[in-house]
Amino acid sequence: MALSFLERHKKIERNVTLLGALAFAAVTVGGIVEIAPLFWIDNTIEKVQGMRPFTPLETAGRDIYIREGCYVCHSQMIRPFRDETERYGHYSLAAESMYDHPFQWGSKRTGPDLARVGGKYSDEWHVQHLKDPRAVVPESIMPAYPFLAERDLKAGDMTAELRTLYQVGVPYSKDDIAKGNDDLKAQADPEAATADLKKRYPKAQARDFDGNPKRLTEMDALVAYLQVLGTLVDVNAPAAQEVLVKEKGR
Ligand code: HEC
Repeated sequence: MALSFLERHKKIERNVTLLGALAFAAVTVGGIVEIAPLFWIDNTIEKVQGMRPFTPLETAGRDIYIREGCYVCHSQMIRPFRDETERYGHYSLAAESMYDHPFQWGSKRTGPDLARVGGKYSDEWHVQHLKDPRAVVPESIMPAYPFLAERDLKAGDMTAELRTLYQVGVPYSKDDIAKGNDDLKAQADPEAATADLKKRYPKAQARDFDGNPKRLTEMDALVAYLQVLGTLVDVNAPAAQEVLVKEKGR
């Protein structure tokens, strides 16, 4: 039985044209089965409550995160394994990075995962840690970024950046885009009115982040970004749980 199968397979292997035609057929069927369903479902990501686009200040902080290559040492993707969830918190949902362009999942963890680092430490801790990691974690091998606190945030035109993100699918409203530059400054200015900003960006944290309320620095933006990571979706709320059950069922 086994031999006759091998004998038959020999015929295919010895005939280049037949082998090519059959391989092509196999790949075509496999491709259709994998790719075709994507054209009929509306979305591959389940929406979850609480997810919103980043504010202009958080977006500017994210740009600094990318510029400085933080993703080279830090991931933002908690996998559904016990060792990860016990250390970093609830595993990441697909929707939590749906507005990230490009996503920051990362592929290497020289340092810890940062997907849920928001709220874990105070602003002062982050500022200290970024200026001199060894001041707060003596054994740390993370590079120091003291210049972030010295440099004024030159984010450029946030209306243009938000519009670009809108074009790739991030649902900023016309209002969000028009107020991009004002929102950027207001979020880190303790004296600015932020009720409107907080209404358009629920759970937005507005305060001075770098300990220097007189200046808007790159440190303000980066700390604002770190403090929002993983805080938007309440993973224990019933709506999110429903999505989780569905995701597990797949
Ligand atoms: C060369 C690798 C490396 C780079 C680059 C790096 N880090 Fe780190 N980071 C680490 C290591 C290692 C730790 C763990 C020790 C510590 O807390 O300092 C860490 C810890 C952290 C923590 C604390 C996380 C926690 O849960 O305790 C934060 C926040 C952080 N890094 C942010 C950043 C940011 C923001 C950048 C970019 C400006 C950055 N890191 C760049 C290696 C790196």
